[in-house]
Amino acid sequence: MLQWCGLPPTVPHMKGIVFNLVELAVTEEFGAETWTALLEAANAGGRYENTGDHDDAELLAIVGAASEALGLTPAQVLRWTGERIIPHMAASYSAYFDAHPGPIEFFATLDDTIHWEVLSMYEGAEPPRFQTEDLGDGRAMIEYSSFRGLPDLAEGMIAGVAAHYGTELIVDRQDGEEDGRTVCRFQCAFRTAELPEQQPLP
Ligand code: HEM
Repeated sequence: MLQWCGLPPTVPHMKGIVFNLVELAVTEEFGAETWTALLEAANAGGRYENTGDHDDAELLAIVGAASEALGLTPAQVLRWTGERIIPHMAASYSAYFDAHPGPIEFFATLDDTIHWEVLSMYEGAEPPRFQTEDLGDGRAMIEYSSFRGLPDLAEGMIAGVAAHYGTELIVDRQDGEEDGRTVCRFQCAFRTAELPEQQPLP
């Protein structure tokens, strides 16, 4: 039976699809050699089946290697990664994104659609929870909760989704913890970017 378990597995693992998305983002921006160099520096395997399980520690080692190479903090690397993987997700799973007019509607259904389906498609998956409260006027409270504690990745992904829908994002973040899970509240204001003024016809 499908269910949100919420308990950490004995060895925290992540589905290969996440590694493969990170590879796409890094390769697109910095080239395949950089990805290979990061894998070597992180002592990581580098072959990830979408549905396979890989230690969370391996992803964090790759993030650590990127942080060393780029002189960024691991949090900055995770935010960059989150933002850059969204266009690849939107290209591969466009129906989920096209079904909604904007980011708030998208986030309101994330738990019940995408990550719920992840539970049935990927055996043993433990996707994070996102609870979204629409506060009106383009504002929303998005609460991320996960035993993995990757709120920086989530923050980057929220920014990526905002950009996907052509909105500018102002975000205020509150970090917390409940029952061993990272619980992070993102107070978001999504503003539709002003369209450039139309030029009069000659
Ligand atoms: C079509 C789009 C998406 C698909 C197919 C997808 C699928 C997945 C899968 C398979 C995992 C790994 C779960 C595991 O290994 O146990 C995952 C993790 C994750 N997803 Fe999604 N996801 C999608 C969209 C999103 C969006 C839009 C966000 C948030 C803004 C998001 C946030 C995350 C985060 C932060 C994780 C890392 C694990 C954690 O923090 O616990 N995902 N997703």
